[in-house]
Amino acid sequence: MTGKLMQAVSYDSYGGGSAGLKHVEIPVPAPGNGEILLKVEAASINPVDWKIQKGVARPVYPRKFPYVPVTDVAGEVVEVGLGVEKFKVGDKVITSLGGVSGGGGLAEYAVAKESATVLRPPEVSAVDGSCLVIAGCTALYALTVTGRVKLDKTEPLTNVLVTNASGGVGHYAVQLAKLGNTHVTATCGARNIEFVKSLGADEVLDYKTPEGAALKSPSGKKYDLVIHCTIGIPWSTFKSNLTPTGKVIDLTPNGGTFWNYAVNKIKFSKRQLLPLFAVPKAEEIELLAGLLKDGKIKTVIDSRYPLTRAEEGWAKSMEGHVTGKVVPGGGVFDIINM
Ligand SMILES: NC(=O)c1ccc[n+]([C@@H]2O[C@H](COP(=O)([O-])OP(=O)(O)OC[C@H]3O[C@@H](n4cnc5c(N)ncnc54)[C@H](OP(=O)(O)O)[C@@H]3O)[C@@H](O)[C@H]2O)c1
Repeated sequence: MTGKLMQAVSYDSYGGGSAGLKHVEIPVPAPGNGEILLKVEAASINPVDWKIQKGVARPVYPRKFPYVPVTDVAGEVVEVGLGVEKFKVGDKVITSLGGVSGGGGLAEYAVAKESATVLRPPEVSAVDGSCLVIAGCTALYALTVTGRVKLDKTEPLTNVLVTNASGGVGHYAVQLAKLGNTHVTATCGARNIEFVKSLGADEVLDYKTPEGAALKSPSGKKYDLVIHCTIGIPWSTFKSNLTPTGKVIDLTPNGGTFWNYAVNKIKFSKRQLLPLFAVPKAEEIELLAGLLKDGKIKTVIDSRYPLTRAEEGWAKSMEGHVTGKVVPGGGVFDIINM
């Protein structure tokens, strides 16, 4: 592919939102040692993509401008670099383009690390597979590693609360939690209550009602574990709803999270507020793709956009009212709104 050009979407500086995205023609990247070149079939947006554009990870990400964003991709292998053993041309894969030089998903072709890539089962669509990476792996890690829920129902009952159960992470978190021995309470907006119930939640609270804002379980449960996928809920609200050893895993930690984490440590409190920044791993993507293949979980797509209209998907994610996931890559998709 040396010398060949491709379509991509990039931005040149921090800020600017969807209007800061530009359609550009750039060289197809070349895979290095241990890397593969993919023809991108689908790429999915996560809030971290536009938060990086806002400068949340400055000066680490992006390393340089112009920058082609988005890390969660499904594609077909079209070239393999030196030392690649697991993949060959023609394989369909799912990968995370995260890491130090991450990004590159909003393009016709992208280079992925062999170590961060898994084969996509034929039963799993490229769109569904691309959505698993950050959102699915974060839900899986929070529940099963930090939260220690077993997905085989071998443990005593765990009472779980998932806040923002209608979003990318939350919709996987509810489904994964229900593979374990759990009672799941969930919060979401009124329009998504039936949707979240359909994912398996045992009880659902509208976050705009007083009961929802107070996180009160309708059946009076205290939570052993909270997968906290939104912002703006004070520790005092969580604390009164936790069991004596209950944990809150905060996926959007801020100064208050780290402060309360430290205070709880100093006081030897068994109730904990734990910040989490998850990094998707190949074995997690593989496990999730297997669960999708077996029909044990599903990906719910809010909307799809061709690469030529990627900025619309970017804006949609930034509005914060996505149900499930937004997929603006691959170049061949129709718009599908739920
Ligand atoms: N730490 C990590 O490793 C990690 C990984 C992934 C994501 N995250 C973070 O986790 C958060 C969630 O990500 P996501 O991809 O799931 O978000 P998302 O898909 O953009 O979430 C959109 C959903 O949030 C709902 N929502 C908004 N405010 C809410 C509230 N107060 N209570 C309940 N639901 C609410 C919206 O419902 P309505 O339309 O009804 O308002 C909408 O359905 C983001 O801040 C993201 O950056 C962190």
